[in-house]
Amino acid sequence: MTRGRMNVAVLAAALIGSTLSGCAPSSEPETEADVASAGSEGAYRTELTTAELMAHVLDHAADGVWLNQGWVVDDKGERELFPTTDEGWLAAENSAATVAETANLLLLPGRRVDEEHWTDHAHALHKASLEAMKAAEARDKQAFFDAGGAMYVACRDCHQEYILGEEPMNGPQR
Ligand code: HEC
Repeated sequence: MTRGRMNVAVLAAALIGSTLSGCAPSSEPETEADVASAGSEGAYRTELTTAELMAHVLDHAADGVWLNQGWVVDDKGERELFPTTDEGWLAAENSAATVAETANLLLLPGRRVDEEHWTDHAHALHKASLEAMKAAEARDKQAFFDAGGAMYVACRDCHQEYILGEEPMNGPQR
């Protein structure tokens, strides 16, 4: 808490400084110290645990991609799950965008695991969801499907390493 109050003080000082020097208020940090204080852990609000972010944000957003892609064969014959309207494609694109930005939320100080692999998994998820976004915008079903698959691999790889332990589980259990 003390830390949070300190950051407010630093921010207030920075604002007063820019007003006094006659500059238009700007969100651009001016010195390295400003960059450091703006980027410090206390600047972020990470009350949501990683598990909560997964369950309430990421899983939901990923479903907005996965439930809108692929082909199913059932007693009614073969059907596509891809959107059939502009609104549907826009919703799929929105979900992919949410996944892409949520990948960044996994890298916030206070939430990220300070290991290169963690960052790599988050970046893999970010890349795949940007591809899904682009494919949805282009209404490219195959590319959208492939990007959804790459998203899944990114989720799975991180879970294998950080939830299930270092031993990858490749068997039919998954
Ligand atoms: C960078 C690593 C990482 C990536 C990428 C990742 N996860 Fe997770 N996920 C975790 C960790 C760590 C946990 C366990 C959190 C805990 O229990 O404290 C978790 C837990 C979960 C949970 C269980 C939450 C609960 O209620 O306990 C779900 C659901 C989930 N992730 C979904 C996803 C989906 C869907 C994706 C991909 C779209 C994904 N995750 C990508 C690290 C990751």
